[in-house]
Amino acid sequence: MHWILFSVIFYSSKVICSDLKKTQEPEQVHIAFGSDPTQTIAITWSTNEPTPESAVLYGKNDLSIKAVGTSREFVDAGPEKRVRYIHRVKLLDLEPGASYLYKCGSNVGWSKTFSFRTANSSEDWSPRVAVFGDLGVANARILPFLKNDVEKKLYDAVIHVGDFGYDLEENNGELGDEFMRLIEPVAANVSYMVCPGNHEQAYNFSHYKERFTMPGDTENLYYSFDLGPAHFISIDSEAYYYLNYGKSLLINQYEWLVNDLKEANKPENRQKRPWIIVYGHKPMYCSNVWMDDCAFKTAKVRVGLPGKKWYEYGLEELFYNAGVDLEFWGHQHSYERLWPVYDYQVKNGSTENPNTNPKGPIQITTGVAGSKYNVTVFKEFKPEWSAVRSVEYGYSILEIHNRTHIHFQHLSVDKGGEVIDETWIIKDHHEPYKRF
Ligand SMILES: [Fe+2]
Repeated sequence: MHWILFSVIFYSSKVICSDLKKTQEPEQVHIAFGSDPTQTIAITWSTNEPTPESAVLYGKNDLSIKAVGTSREFVDAGPEKRVRYIHRVKLLDLEPGASYLYKCGSNVGWSKTFSFRTANSSEDWSPRVAVFGDLGVANARILPFLKNDVEKKLYDAVIHVGDFGYDLEENNGELGDEFMRLIEPVAANVSYMVCPGNHEQAYNFSHYKERFTMPGDTENLYYSFDLGPAHFISIDSEAYYYLNYGKSLLINQYEWLVNDLKEANKPENRQKRPWIIVYGHKPMYCSNVWMDDCAFKTAKVRVGLPGKKWYEYGLEELFYNAGVDLEFWGHQHSYERLWPVYDYQVKNGSTENPNTNPKGPIQITTGVAGSKYNVTVFKEFKPEWSAVRSVEYGYSILEIHNRTHIHFQHLSVDKGGEVIDETWIIKDHHEPYKRF
């Protein structure tokens, strides 16, 4: 009898111990550029229980260097108030253009070993970036293709322009865990850069803010970084739509944007990094049947909000005046590349070569990674500012060749990864369009 009782207690404690150990093991590992992509990488992961420390072991050929970071208790605001621990470690003073191995965790459990490459410090470097929006758990169409590309080390960064999982907070946040596990083979091996979409709005974007680690100190909402000959700017389009969380975010972001664009346009900076590329979730233009905000000339990201005299904080004029070259958006579950455009006027470089020395920014909506809600079809009538449209699932690839040439491609995964749209964007010089 005693023996049976002992066995039951021993077995139960073994089960409890192994469960506890399991929950202390790192999962959902993902990385992102720090403020200087040539030298800093932020590594983020999750555990269900607290751990003795949050550490990363890393090195170029082995795991001989140790960096320690912090962890934060993240309580989901859903009915079960489920708790997760989000661990963050910043690797500093890395060698530019170098490959590293790493694993993360603590002495109660380590992740498997992943790898990453820091950005090259030269502006004479051709970074390749995958861009897409609207990727869910239930219909993650592009993921096998993306995993394959990342295994081949094709990208220097991946940009996901909002709407994750559908939705991260679902089922007390378990769907968010599932999504972050799903993208781990991609996001643990290449910087996974993000901006918020409308599907992240629950509990004031808390899952988005807590689960990612972007550069800057704006809770991942807006930031910028340099990559080779390009300056990338990530914005929170949702600041224009979720005013129930306050208008100050929109104003702060706008003021930050004005300064960031001014800095990027200083002659010494624009000469080194002439391409200015912006990404956010909600587009300024769209020609889908779904009559969303972008279907109207009053699209909030484009013209701003009604102010005392006229609309305020609109982004189209700001980007035009700052000579922004390229803008990426999602939200519409389709692919639509625009001709260079400003204020609904086509600003082609020439009839023969519209994207050579364009007289306005080129905007691309690439929201067909695989949302839960399938694709959004287009109106039969194609507006004159719309160049190419597709409702096949897919993603976009940006190759910033040098200071004057960008090669852009859009792939269809419905057609096995076939390139269904491509163009060269050529600019002999970059400056605010007003001077043209
Ligand atoms: Fe959206």
